[in-house]
Amino acid sequence: MNQLWEINQNNYDSKINRKKETVFTLANGYRGIRGAIEFSDIGERGNYIAGIFDKSEAQVTEIVNCPDPLVLNLYVEDESLNIEQCEVVEFNRTLDMKAGVLYTDLQIKTPKGKITKIETKRFVSRNNVHRWGAQYSITPLNYSGKLFIENVINGTVTNSMLDPFHKTKHFNIEEISDLKPGIALQSITRDDRISMIEGTVLKGISEDGNFLKNRKFRAFGETAREIYEVFVNENKTYTLEKYGVTYTSRDTDDKLSNVLKEDIWQFIDGGLESELNLHINEWNKLWENMDIVIEGDDLAQQGLRFNIFHLSSMAYSGDERISIAAKGLHGEGYKGHVFWDTEIFMLPFFVYTNPEVAKSLLLYRYNLLEGAKKNAVNNGYKGAQYPWESASDGLEVTPKWGIDYDGNPVRIWTGDEEFHINADIAFGIWEYYRTTKDKDFLQNYGLLIFFETAKFWASRVEYNKELDRFEINRVIGPDEFHEHVDNNFYTNYFAKWNMKKAVELVDWIKQEDNSIFERLCVEVGLNDSDFDQWKNIINKIYIPVDESKNLIEQFEGYFKLKDIPITEYDENQMPVWPDFQGYKLDETQLLKQPDVIMLLLLLGSEFDDITKKANYRYYEARTMHKSSLSPSMYSIMGLSVGDTENAYKYFIKTIMTDLEDNQGNTEHGIHAASTGGSWQSAVFGFGGLYIDEEQEICFSPWIPENWNTLSFNVNWRNSIVNVTITQNDVKISSTGTTTVKVYNNSYTINPVDTTVISRNN
Ligand code: BGC
Repeated sequence: MNQLWEINQNNYDSKINRKKETVFTLANGYRGIRGAIEFSDIGERGNYIAGIFDKSEAQVTEIVNCPDPLVLNLYVEDESLNIEQCEVVEFNRTLDMKAGVLYTDLQIKTPKGKITKIETKRFVSRNNVHRWGAQYSITPLNYSGKLFIENVINGTVTNSMLDPFHKTKHFNIEEISDLKPGIALQSITRDDRISMIEGTVLKGISEDGNFLKNRKFRAFGETAREIYEVFVNENKTYTLEKYGVTYTSRDTDDKLSNVLKEDIWQFIDGGLESELNLHINEWNKLWENMDIVIEGDDLAQQGLRFNIFHLSSMAYSGDERISIAAKGLHGEGYKGHVFWDTEIFMLPFFVYTNPEVAKSLLLYRYNLLEGAKKNAVNNGYKGAQYPWESASDGLEVTPKWGIDYDGNPVRIWTGDEEFHINADIAFGIWEYYRTTKDKDFLQNYGLLIFFETAKFWASRVEYNKELDRFEINRVIGPDEFHEHVDNNFYTNYFAKWNMKKAVELVDWIKQEDNSIFERLCVEVGLNDSDFDQWKNIINKIYIPVDESKNLIEQFEGYFKLKDIPITEYDENQMPVWPDFQGYKLDETQLLKQPDVIMLLLLLGSEFDDITKKANYRYYEARTMHKSSLSPSMYSIMGLSVGDTENAYKYFIKTIMTDLEDNQGNTEHGIHAASTGGSWQSAVFGFGGLYIDEEQEICFSPWIPENWNTLSFNVNWRNSIVNVTITQNDVKISSTGTTTVKVYNNSYTINPVDTTVISRNN
């Protein structure tokens, strides 16, 4: 294997098991299995199926930690091969990101001195998302004797398993069955009554054929169990194959046990290797489009691939009722909820490398529109109000209470006030459309969301008679350090953009197909007076910009807050909390993450370089980066305004978020937005990709001195455009005739040729 495609762990330390479980999670969009070690019980095992949510007695609806099919216990005579009760002689784990396979090799010594070598590989199939498999090659190194192999599906699993106060059980057991051989456990969620079935079968392969002969099956309460008694000989290798299959009542109307059996027997007939090869083929196909090559900087190359690997593993196009959670399918952080992280941070990756998945993610919002409309009604507004935190029905699921930095209970206002999510979603639709020109999507799904969100904004703004302007008061912008603020620039500008685009789209659809326009007017309840009202708001909505200074005030009154400089940086070169001099955090100008800068990035073509520079200077110096969403955006803006040194630093911070755990909470799941930010930082930042006012694709790349090459592919209007940047030139090729601008000059790229543009002009 090639080190640039690998993530390794060479020492075993149970203290970091939970963190490593996130890093080594395998997922295929349908489900994620945390990278737990079968032979340890220290950690926080997780088996999450996208779209399976339940509340029960939990604070809010949360992604369900489903029954655990990964359990495999080994015993030599009367000793357990549990790693925590043995001496670890050798330990090595490798995630092969190219193939999507996790290898764990270990040698463990029992208290009585018996040494066993166990080599394992595991995959969660991208070929058939219901399947996963593992192989264990077991070699007794210094003994012959009895080995007991216990295959278990553990239905005693809870969410928050390490938190006695919040521990919640989200399902009941429906049925435990003997597959003879193999075991199955069917459970059902408590609120929505979604049934789920897990089935596993072991196959034993040794020189003498199938060594799994003496078997017993038992149902132990909430646990399915089969055990084999095997006589093993010193220095002989016994290979176990484990076949796993999962279905839920969301996938099929047929009887789950029948569907499971049919699939698992076919899986076994085909063989583990065959499924593994198909799985690897799928990963290879994905990588063909999404890989980014950086030559000359191994850390950047490996780290970027790590982020792309996980980002890609969190989604597939097979289910339009699911999206990507803030912590992926990798942990229970943020309760499996979906935020703006998806549309603003992750979606661009899919738009440009796998548009089918991008469309599916946007259809999730379309399918949850009814919930969003209910939120608006519940809060006294019109149209659709998307939830700040979303689960399976579009209703707001943000918890009302949490714990602050000092461990005190704190009211969480984001679910009540972080309205910008509505424009973020509309922007995601626009980004998908302008890149793919998928008219069918826009006409049948996207427009409805544009109109419903515009209608929401029109009901949310307040008219200030005295100043003859529309305002949006009492909100939270992207920077969550400041709550209940008035006229947040990001929110107001984006709401305006949302309504402006909706008005443009009214004109567009009238021309394209008036019958669609008429249907939408009836469906949303719109007429000419609404469009006039939108236009009036667009003209009069207050945008807090100080023209003379080019500086944009984050919200009304922000500049009057105490300006406390950041003076110290930690060993990761990240800001250390300054002394607040008796002020509260929200009385200072310190930011959690970019706010004004976010908007200047998303709508970059509407602002000039002087404005970008002035605001970057001002806000970068006041940002604490207390969200993993922060560094990538400063990296991109840094490159746009010429702060290349910081841009590189922020890029490395972003790609290393989970590899070095620089936010200190990787154990709760992957920082999904940061994986998307990593891709954006490479392609929009160093690759310099942007879309200009004429809706053309442009590149204005810059690469660090130590990079020999930066090379990536993007989908642009049905062509795949390859861009390779070296210190001297930019090479562009495309599968279809495409017009691109490079450093502001226009080029027509023909499919047969590579266009080479010098960087030294
Ligand atoms: C950030 C939000 C983000 C959320 C989920 C918060 O800490 O401030 O912008 O959406 O985490 O990742």
